[in-house]
Amino acid sequence: DPQKQAQSQSLLEITARAAKFYREQLKQSPKAIDYLKSRGLTGEIAARYGIGYAPEGWQGLRSVFGEQYEQQALVEGGLVITNDTSRRYDRFRDRVMFPIHDQRGNIIGFGGRVLGQGEPKYLNSPETPLFEKGRELYGLHQARQSIRESNTVVVTEGYMDVVALAQFGFGSAVATLGTATTATHIQKLFRQAERVVFCFDGDKAGRKAARRALEASIEHLADDRAVRFLFLPAEHDPDSYIREEGLVAFQRALNEATPLTDFLLRELRGDLDLSRGEGRARLVHEAKDWVPRMSAPILRAQTVRSLADMAEMEVAEVERALGMEPGNKK
Ligand code: UTP
Ligand code: MN
Ligand code: MN
Ligand code: MN
Ligand code: MN
Repeated sequence: DPQKQAQSQSLLEITARAAKFYREQLKQSPKAIDYLKSRGLTGEIAARYGIGYAPEGWQGLRSVFGEQYEQQALVEGGLVITNDTSRRYDRFRDRVMFPIHDQRGNIIGFGGRVLGQGEPKYLNSPETPLFEKGRELYGLHQARQSIRESNTVVVTEGYMDVVALAQFGFGSAVATLGTATTATHIQKLFRQAERVVFCFDGDKAGRKAARRALEASIEHLADDRAVRFLFLPAEHDPDSYIREEGLVAFQRALNEATPLTDFLLRELRGDLDLSRGEGRARLVHEAKDWVPRMSAPILRAQTVRSLADMAEMEVAEVERALGMEPGNKK
């Protein structure tokens, strides 16, 4: 659709100009610069991620765009808000701005963080013709080379996780940006590298995010791919962890991350009492929703064997209980 293409093209130009405006504003804002410094970021890394600052006031961004069609595009791009009385004002005000790039490096949206305390902590671009949540991975554009070299991609929750990891020398991280990991994310991740490591925050929300990533991955596994989970100590996220423990400790933790099948078995086991037949039956019952959906036949067979060991059953019995075709027996 050529009309749509032309529209996207002009939206991309608008977001690129907005990002430039925010970068220029950062240079003139000592408090925003101080904030980034307080988070341990250098000017070099801020430049690498195109970090900027949206000034206070309602018309800062708006006022640098003249033409009527540009004003319209700012609204379509989610950068300017129109209220009922058709008054228009900047969406992002007094926030540190993280541009979100697509893989090719086009800027398709923004996340804006308050300086210090305030709600919401991060304000994000709404869905626009350019920006579809659940598809994009923050930082992928900057990380691609490093991901290719290490054949590993680390998936975090947030902007600051990606930027802080890069600041401390780990360049292969991306973020899902507060949305759950989707099948689209997984497919995109596997196009970049053979190893995917999910490293979410150590808190309850992070553990929940890990379960959703497990859910999204299970039908997209392959026997020549590895999906792992790095569970950080409860008080940490990747940003705070690498800041406190350093790059070497982070890399060591990555190497020891939990393989998906181990995580799955641990989740299935929960707090069941496997010393009783009841608990062992329940384990196999719980596995029914998961194991048959695993798309990697070798990993699936290994998981069935582990289940059989845990349940004190024969492999063929477990396969039957899971509604799977019994495999070749030796
Ligand atoms: P966190 O609350 O873990 O924030 O949210 P963070 O990334 O550690 O941020 P800092 O270190 O306090 O600056 C994880 C991610 O969830 C999304 C953002 O993408 C954030 O990076 N989020 C969080 C929002 O979109 N809005 C919010 O208000 C909070
Ligand atoms: Mn969190
Ligand atoms: Mn966090
Ligand atoms: Mn954080
Ligand atoms: Mn059930």
